[in-house]
Amino acid sequence: MDPGILKEAAAVIRSGGLVAFPTETVYGLGADATNPEAAAKIYAAKGRPSDNPLIAHIGAYEEFSRVAAEIPEKARTLADAFWPGPLTLIVKKHGSVPYETTGGLDTVAVRMPAHPAALALIRASGCPIAAPSANTSGRPSPTLAAHVAEDLGGKIPLILDGGEVGIGIESTILDLTGTIPTILRPGFVTKEMLQETIGPVRIDPGILREDSDIRPKAPGMKYRHYAPNAELVIVDGEASAVIQKINTLAEQLTAQGKRVGVLGTDETSGAYRGTVFRSIGPRRDEEAIARHLYRVLREFDEDRVDIIYSESFFAPGIGQAVKNRLLKAAAHRILRV
Ligand code: TXA
Ligand code: MG
Repeated sequence: MDPGILKEAAAVIRSGGLVAFPTETVYGLGADATNPEAAAKIYAAKGRPSDNPLIAHIGAYEEFSRVAAEIPEKARTLADAFWPGPLTLIVKKHGSVPYETTGGLDTVAVRMPAHPAALALIRASGCPIAAPSANTSGRPSPTLAAHVAEDLGGKIPLILDGGEVGIGIESTILDLTGTIPTILRPGFVTKEMLQETIGPVRIDPGILREDSDIRPKAPGMKYRHYAPNAELVIVDGEASAVIQKINTLAEQLTAQGKRVGVLGTDETSGAYRGTVFRSIGPRRDEEAIARHLYRVLREFDEDRVDIIYSESFFAPGIGQAVKNRLLKAAAHRILRV
């Protein structure tokens, strides 16, 4: 990235302004994490509920103790193993982090991102950068600078363009403030990877259940999120039964004058009749599926479809993160065939 632009961006952050920047997961909307007025601007630009805390991004391990009141042993071990990278750790907050950044909580979410532009921006700014995903609250997270411009263009002074992100799904969030480390949001770093490093880890029971009757612990996970404008319905079952069901439904709805979108894979392109079809990638390539999910959901908005039927992508590993986001985007509407 151009050093002149980075310098300009760091000056905006230092003066309390907002800058959107690429990370390896999704684009972030950054502000000085130690400045309450700057944090407030983030909530205003996104239309984000003020009880939903922000992640403080740091540019070097030494900065961890500037935002955390204490660093538990397991946090140290995990930082060693996964930072810079797509893992966010929740610990007790330091007095230098205002409640405006943590949504009123005494804990703070901390992550060191693995993107050269993100690290350069944080280091040049000289402060930890609070950054949620750079989308309007409720919309799919941005994986391209163009997505940020779509949602926030005109509302923020600067968007750093780093091209398409590598991972495409937000970081794994691990809460280290309880007795057993707990995953509050699944991501690229899986439960198995965490357990190999620090032993037993559990998953917040509020997030993976398909019937969603338990409240998730991360405030941000309780809202409808990652959602396209059109209603999204997941159709789960054996491949040929899914195709047949979607074709039947699409035929009925099309007869009623509705525009029907189908989210499928390279393998099923050509299987659906009379629909707006979009492929998320090859079914066996879980990383491609994660990387393309939000972009494809946004594209359906441009297609102006009335309803989207999605095949299910419920694989292990990063597939768990895809499942979590897709279920939320669909507001847990699943048809089983
Ligand atoms: O990959 C990512 O994490 C991206 C990039 C930009 O780094 N950021 C991101 O931020 O996804 P955001 O604000 O969209 O999601 C942060 C999530 C929210 O669900 C929020 O409720 C939760 O983290 N969170 C933040 N601080 C927390 C805390 N102290 N306790 C519990 N949950 C917290
Ligand atoms: Mg977000």
